[in-house]
Amino acid sequence: MEQQRIISVQRHLVESQHVHPQATGELTGLLWDLTLAFKLISAAVNKAGLTDVLGMAGSTNVHGEDVTRMDRYAQEVIVRMMDHGGHLCAMASEEEEEIIPLTRGDGRYVLCFDPLDGSSNIGVNVSVGTIFSIYRRVSPTGGPGCLEDVLQPGKALVAAGYAVYGSSTMLVYSTGAGVHGFTLDPSLGEFLLSHPNLRIPRRGSIYSVNEGNQAWWDDATRRYVEHLKAPAQGPYKSRYIGSMIADVHRTLLTGGVFLYPRTYKKDKARGEAKLRLLYEALPMAFLVEQAGGRALAGSQPLMEVIPHTLHQRVEVAMGSPADVDDYASFIQGAR
Ligand code: AHG
Ligand code: MN
Ligand code: MN
Repeated sequence: MEQQRIISVQRHLVESQHVHPQATGELTGLLWDLTLAFKLISAAVNKAGLTDVLGMAGSTNVHGEDVTRMDRYAQEVIVRMMDHGGHLCAMASEEEEEIIPLTRGDGRYVLCFDPLDGSSNIGVNVSVGTIFSIYRRVSPTGGPGCLEDVLQPGKALVAAGYAVYGSSTMLVYSTGAGVHGFTLDPSLGEFLLSHPNLRIPRRGSIYSVNEGNQAWWDDATRRYVEHLKAPAQGPYKSRYIGSMIADVHRTLLTGGVFLYPRTYKKDKARGEAKLRLLYEALPMAFLVEQAGGRALAGSQPLMEVIPHTLHQRVEVAMGSPADVDDYASFIQGAR
């Protein structure tokens, strides 16, 4: 049996950079800095029940959601880690209304992040994580970045990834040359390559959606999920953790489909999406597609959705290509 090479994420980043002779090392440095932030957050999440980081911060964020102390801690760690590096010109976070000002903001890259995804699960010891995406700046170099640098479509992504703080901590990232997964060895404090070149199965047998919202779904989504439950389909198993990061991580590894459709609760005419385009949907869609999967926003490719505002929300379907194609055929009214 061929033995897999033991390689840390730092070594992997450096070797990946060498493939591009024109690379300056800035992106490598930026990703390297992020890995340290993930280790710090992971350490805090692992002992959250023992320290005062567990619990509510007593405020709400721009989305009107309660902020947990861990949300705030993760936000601070990333900002403090990335603020002085010189690689960035702008940062934007799910937890901050505006672009985050940088001490050294003359770099070539832009960072968008969800500091702690699934944070409502933290008090019950369920997986949470950090999601990030990186764009190249489009504004002139030399000074700080602007909104235009942040509001870029998925096809402009340079890199994206996430750290999931689960039964083990894993880092999954792509710079457009495959999706690679690393597991944190806590005794070494190193992320070691454990899942090289991840490929999502062509079809899975799990669907993942908040079925408590079924009464507020559109007809096509309702018919699609009924179809998955029909005995002729297997049937599919239902798995919904309620942390997108954990639900999509499982989908990436074992296949199937993850959905967060619009719900027609409050705004019955237009419906409302929940997941954030810049901080959740686009980075996860990038990874799923890099691994051979598909991602849609309604019937449109998710990667083609143009962000117009920092906290824009979008409906999401992503996962195995055959499963997402099936969903698309329902959405398009063919079934
Ligand atoms: P966050 O913790 O960053 O606010 O994100 C929560 C998101 C996402 O992780 C998850 O898929 C979704 O909210 C769950 O929403 P429901 O509780 O409505 O199912
Ligand atoms: Mn989130
Ligand atoms: Mn969050």
